[in-house]
Amino acid sequence: MRDVAIVGVSQTKFGELWDKSFRDLVVEAGVEAINDANMSGDKIDAMYIGNMTGGLFVGQEHIGALIAEHSGLAPIPSTRVEAACASGGLAFRQAVMAVASGYYDNVMAAGVEKMTDVVDATPAIAAAADREWEAQQGATFPSLYAMMAHRHMYEYGTTREQIASFAVLGHKNGALNPRAQFQREISLDTVLNGTKVASPFTVFDCSPVSDGAAAVIVCPAEDAKKYTDTPIYIKASTQASDTIALHSRKSLTQLESTIIASRKAYDIAGVEAKDIDVAEVHDCFTINGLLAIEDLGFFEKGKGGQAIEQGLIERDGQIAINPSGGLKARGHPLGATGIAQVAEITWQLRGDADKRQVDGAELGLTHNVGGTGGTVAVQILSRNK
Ligand code: COA
Repeated sequence: MRDVAIVGVSQTKFGELWDKSFRDLVVEAGVEAINDANMSGDKIDAMYIGNMTGGLFVGQEHIGALIAEHSGLAPIPSTRVEAACASGGLAFRQAVMAVASGYYDNVMAAGVEKMTDVVDATPAIAAAADREWEAQQGATFPSLYAMMAHRHMYEYGTTREQIASFAVLGHKNGALNPRAQFQREISLDTVLNGTKVASPFTVFDCSPVSDGAAAVIVCPAEDAKKYTDTPIYIKASTQASDTIALHSRKSLTQLESTIIASRKAYDIAGVEAKDIDVAEVHDCFTINGLLAIEDLGFFEKGKGGQAIEQGLIERDGQIAINPSGGLKARGHPLGATGIAQVAEITWQLRGDADKRQVDGAELGLTHNVGGTGGTVAVQILSRNK
């Protein structure tokens, strides 16, 4: 296997982007990533595109070929990857494996979703749950994650305020990110007193409905300095699966797939959770951010709430979590999120994250969840070879 490095990244602004189509978004991200890599398009050997449900949101399938054509990269192989909200993380992993194996040299991994063209996004998102046993019975993602929040409060004494504080942190960081959907701070009172969505969640516990795209270029580590002075090295790229339905799980207060994928990643990279300086975790709902910092091993199970309350996950804390604003404030165009996380960690490790820079960040992690944890992808990235 060859070592693999990231030489180019990009992310469009996330938000309600009425003036841009699905294809506009991904082409914009792809061109920017190629420019960032100082590479000409004809050097790209293949593309992997994370997209959850172009069919339900914009009536478009056959996305691999669509994007190859409109980015001007046809006839290179272009493959769509789908794993609900982890589609981007898995697309990135396919690109890494393709280069590591020696099959291709320069590969683009991109992610895209255009969610705001439909009047009600909830039924399309719910297609990522178990159709027969969850979605058809009326369960939606806010309600499924809300059950996990109640159970965490019951089992560990986690408070409503501790859970809500994850959203306050997301908006605080998002306020410094020009690509974020929400660039404004919010108070704890705003989260607690917002419009109720599914008890205990208000609208501010939820990631928003978003449009956006992101792209990353990877190549063999030995070639990386041809394209950039600051390649970022991929130390591990892992993936794990679990039951798609929540009711089949042994526990509602942890995601087994996060635990398995992250422990495998630490093992491959030869590092421990405490070595990670900065992480982008999948906070589609506030409780999932809290579960992530526990399941990734950053804090003991049941102590995530206290860690948030004590400021341990702020940019200057014990470990910087979601300096981009996370899914909560950066936005969550489903298929793009896993790639946007990799882009953010790359900027952080290069020292290119401007006002939201985490000082001295050398080792970073991304954590991308599909559904309620049926799929999880983890990547460990490093400034050092
Ligand atoms: N956080 C903060 N503000 C939000 C928001 C969010 N998640 N969602 C909407 N808003 C704001 C909008 O910007 C808008 O503000 P404005 O009036 O100043 O323009 C206002 O709230 C109303 O927006 P609207 O689009 O009418 O909200 P909505 O009630 O239709 O949708 C949710 C709110 C929470 C239901 C929707 O964002 C949602 O479904 N989120 C979850 C998405 C999801 O499940 N993703 C997959 C996870 S697995």
